[in-house]
Amino acid sequence: MLLSRPPFEPVEFEGVNLLDSAYYASADPHALWARLREERPVHLCDPGDGREPFWVVTRHEDVTRVLKDHRSFSSRRGTMLCIVDLSMPDIASDDMMPDTDPPRHRQLREPLNRALTPRAVADHEDRVRGIVRSLLSPALNEEPFDLAQAALMFPMAFTGSIMGLPEENWARMSELTTMTIAYDDPDYSNGSPRATVRQAHHELFSFFRDEVSRRSPSDAGTDLIGILRSMDLDEGPLDERQLILNCYALLLGANVTTPHAVCTMIAMMGEHPEQFRAVRDDPSLRAGCVQEVLRWSSPASHFMRYTTREVNLGGERIGPDEPVSVWLGSANRDERVFDDPFRFDVTRRPNRHVAFGVGPHYCIGAGLANMALRLLLDELLELFDSVEQVGEVRHLASNFIAGYKSMPVRFVRRKDALTPDTEEVR
Ligand code: HEM
Repeated sequence: MLLSRPPFEPVEFEGVNLLDSAYYASADPHALWARLREERPVHLCDPGDGREPFWVVTRHEDVTRVLKDHRSFSSRRGTMLCIVDLSMPDIASDDMMPDTDPPRHRQLREPLNRALTPRAVADHEDRVRGIVRSLLSPALNEEPFDLAQAALMFPMAFTGSIMGLPEENWARMSELTTMTIAYDDPDYSNGSPRATVRQAHHELFSFFRDEVSRRSPSDAGTDLIGILRSMDLDEGPLDERQLILNCYALLLGANVTTPHAVCTMIAMMGEHPEQFRAVRDDPSLRAGCVQEVLRWSSPASHFMRYTTREVNLGGERIGPDEPVSVWLGSANRDERVFDDPFRFDVTRRPNRHVAFGVGPHYCIGAGLANMALRLLLDELLELFDSVEQVGEVRHLASNFIAGYKSMPVRFVRRKDALTPDTEEVR
């Protein structure tokens, strides 16, 4: 996974179960996706284990159509292929922002969105810079450390603080969010996949329940939980269950994705030192470098929708009420949209990547993630000359997240760099 070379050896897709998490830890899905884009861009995948078949959409054009057209492709029955039976109703339907369609979706999203625009998140820049420095502090002594493990706390710290979550719970909450998407990874599972997800949900929901009930209704606060508490839907304020579900969506969205963009940025700095030197010398390349890292990493591999009516997509007829998964990592290497898509190129223009999705559910945390990654890039270039991988890279077993589990690295400091004030994540 996450290769930098075009992996065009022949691969078979018939009979491959795209739900199989172990596949993503050991194989390169880009080879499979490239073949699907070429030969079967809208493919019906049968997991072969009794679970419902689902459509697999791999071309950029079809992926963007599905994500934009909420009238034909609904989010109300869930948006992730996972261990649950796809034929079951979604318990968060219409209550948790990602699992709603407009116009209800807008009611839930707009108040949060106002607090998460690029301009609004700029108010948190100093705090996030401190968290970046804390992430990089083990690198300062030029000793090896596991970046993938360190990066897990990065989004937890900035999202935890913007949500107003108590710091003493952050470490466990970070672990629990990873359990929900890597439920059959041996390093995260706790019993069966179902039992792992159930335990993670149980603990996370009780953290959020405590947090919501700790606040008096008259003093909700101005953080994201405060904003959720002050919302007014058609039927009135959010009830406790709705509050918990939306807290969960925010934290999950941040925690399971951002660490892998961090690791990709540093992996690319190691692989393409000349491009990062160019970015250091020309700050106008920095925003584009962050976007290329996002295209390259595509941390969220897929999202799902259900058809509401019969549709024709990529030459296939899809009936109503069928699950359709769109593969963002594939769309982001589509040779129909990106020149030489398997070339990492910080000067790529245009870069119409869909790592944050597109359409009504476009990532609400994109402004925050972009700012955090940009601050990370600035700090990396300021402090370090180079980085090298010093041990085996291991990937998460997850059909949802293209992620790193372990990435031992060693940084070499710039001789002319000043020592930063490192602020601990307390
Ligand atoms: C590199 C980091 C990130 C990536 C790659 C990413 C990716 C995505 C994608 C692809 C979607 C669209 C889902 C869909 O269409 O169904 C999405 C939605 C979402 N993201 Fe992110 N995300 C990132 C960071 C964040 C952060 C920092 C937060 C929290 C502040 C967050 C919270 C959410 C939420 C709540 C949604 C649902 C939005 C809606 O339904 O309207 N994400 N994200």
